Amino acid sequence: RIGRWAAPVESLHNCPCPDMEKVVLVTGANSGIGLALCERLLTEDSQLLLCLACRNMKRAEDARSALLTSHINAHIDLLHLDVGSVQSVLTAAQEVKARYNRIDFLYLNAGIMPNPQVDVKALFKGLFSRNVINMFATAEGLLTQQDRLNSDGLQEVFATNLFGHFLLIRELEPLLCPGGQTSRIVWTSSSNARRSAFSIEDIQHRNGTEPYSSSKYASDMLSLALNRHKNSQGLFSSVICPGLVMTNLTYGILPSFFWTLIMPIMWLIRIFTNTFTLTPYNGAEALHWLFVQNPESLDPRAKYHSLTSGLGKNYTQSRQVSNQRPLLPQTLYCSSLLYVNLR
Ligand SMILES: NC(=O)c1ccc[n+]([C@@H]2O[C@H](COP(=O)([O-])OP(=O)(O)OC[C@H]3O[C@@H](n4cnc5c(N)ncnc54)[C@H](OP(=O)(O)O)[C@@H]3O)[C@@H](O)[C@H]2O)c1
Repeated sequence: RIGRWAAPVESLHNCPCPDMEKVVLVTGANSGIGLALCERLLTEDSQLLLCLACRNMKRAEDARSALLTSHINAHIDLLHLDVGSVQSVLTAAQEVKARYNRIDFLYLNAGIMPNPQVDVKALFKGLFSRNVINMFATAEGLLTQQDRLNSDGLQEVFATNLFGHFLLIRELEPLLCPGGQTSRIVWTSSSNARRSAFSIEDIQHRNGTEPYSSSKYASDMLSLALNRHKNSQGLFSSVICPGLVMTNLTYGILPSFFWTLIMPIMWLIRIFTNTFTLTPYNGAEALHWLFVQNPESLDPRAKYHSLTSGLGKNYTQSRQVSNQRPLLPQTLYCSSLLYVNLR
């Protein structure tokens, strides 16, 4: 079924979105980077039709109210979507198909890192070492998580960060690239996406302690595979890393007082590095940047990084997904295998 992405124009129905209005759906839109992205998108294009896809409708309502305060005439819809539940994704996709005739941008941003355990010894050792920047940028060797099975019998991190989003793409096929138009998919990945944490024999990461890293690497692979298979049909996928951002997710790793305590060190380090974006607004830089790019000009194998200079200037930089060109053949092979597995 995934072979057919283009819906004939005559079959389009129920169209509240005039031709020139972009339809943008954002998952995990009620807080952190997702909410900051919505704010930035509305500032960029006041004609947007923005759909906040959230699992908690109270938080979604609050997010909409906050956005409407600064964008009084914005067209903002709410959609109930728990990406960690197969049934919720199927129901939400039906609802989206009933409401819109196309999706221009699908921002796959919702993500979890449950029960993170920090190796405190490694953290303090790293804080005063040369590796401090890389340690914060990638959390390599620092973070493990305790995953669990969800009610669908899937590993929760895999289901939320990857599979639910993939299922959503599949279910929304008729709205992607209709009538020869282009559609875009943008994944909020992470620099914590590491090849060593991912195994094609264990894509749910049942047997490891780094499900977050595994799921983010898998989303990088999947994006690569989508580009290989779907660019010719007008579907373009990109992955981004928002940098290190203070959000509910990071406050789940270490308590906010700890982050406040080490904030002077972080500001200091930001003079020498650019990955400490720190605020959701800065973290959403690459997500926003992609919105204004021509998809044909993008590198299908790149990860786009939100970066902030020591003086607070935001910019976006592309880096190869695997970061190791010699590994490209394996990366492409791995992405194809993952794609086939999920189908
Ligand atoms: N913060 C960082 O430094 C950092 C770095 C790299 C990558 N990221 C990625 O950035 C993305 C956004 O995270 P954030 O930092 O902005 O954290 P956040 O404030 O916790 O935002 C996560 C969003 O995802 C939603 N979400 C979680 N599980 C969901 C589910 N099952 N169904 C629907 N929505 C769900 C959350 O909704 P609720 O409010 O209902 O929980 C929330 O809106 C994530 O993919 C994360 O992995 C963050």
